[in-house]
Amino acid sequence: MEVRVMENTFEISKAVSSIIIDEVKRNPKAVLGFATGASPIETYKRMIEAYENGEVSFKSITTFNLDEYCGLTRDDENSYFRFMKENLFGKTDIDFSRVNFLSGDETESEKSCREYSEKIAAAGGIDIQLLGIGTNGHIGFNEPSDSFSDGPFKVKLTQSTINSNSKYFKDKKMPGYALTMGIGDIMRAKKILLIATGESKANAVFKMIKGEVTPSCPASVLQNHSNAVIYLDRESAKLL
Ligand code: GLP
Repeated sequence: MEVRVMENTFEISKAVSSIIIDEVKRNPKAVLGFATGASPIETYKRMIEAYENGEVSFKSITTFNLDEYCGLTRDDENSYFRFMKENLFGKTDIDFSRVNFLSGDETESEKSCREYSEKIAAAGGIDIQLLGIGTNGHIGFNEPSDSFSDGPFKVKLTQSTINSNSKYFKDKKMPGYALTMGIGDIMRAKKILLIATGESKANAVFKMIKGEVTPSCPASVLQNHSNAVIYLDRESAKLL
């Protein structure tokens, strides 16, 4: 695990987006794992700019997103599919037929979890997985628990996650469950780039990097990945 402390979110977004863009230039059929939340938004903006400048085309990439809320349709304003459409996919030439998502629709969710790891393998594995981190150390929606998961599963969200994410659900109640890629799926990615900014992440960042590898801080498992780079700003790095 490599740690890079940068001046601010903009510098992080330049560094992370250029790794992704270089990968896509080198391999137009790259398989990319994407994350939602506030952390990757600036990186997605730099990717959109590079597309608009004609520097890169995303039309042949395949994508897998980390997680999705249970009970929300794709078009729901709070779904992660909608987030990706608005913050990246819809603003580039990404081909939606190669966009993969766990399905929040109750009738499909079990099947989509069962098939997701196989789909990732069939695509050749994830070349670069982008991650954020929850204030409780979660990655994707892998909440603190007694063991590391392998493949995708349905998870009951913790109160800490509900407290952090409820602000996005204006007058609606936030779903209490979500689907997430497992820790195994994340760890099988060839390269992992994690972004954490702001003081609210400092404690989780400290445990991820300096703590023991334990499922009670899921992100700590990244210490065991041979090609994981953690991008921090000064605030999130302040306890290191
Ligand atoms: C959310 C998502 C994660 C995300 C994390 C941090 O709940 N499930 O994929 O990385 O929590 O979110 P943010 O970047 O908004 O702080």
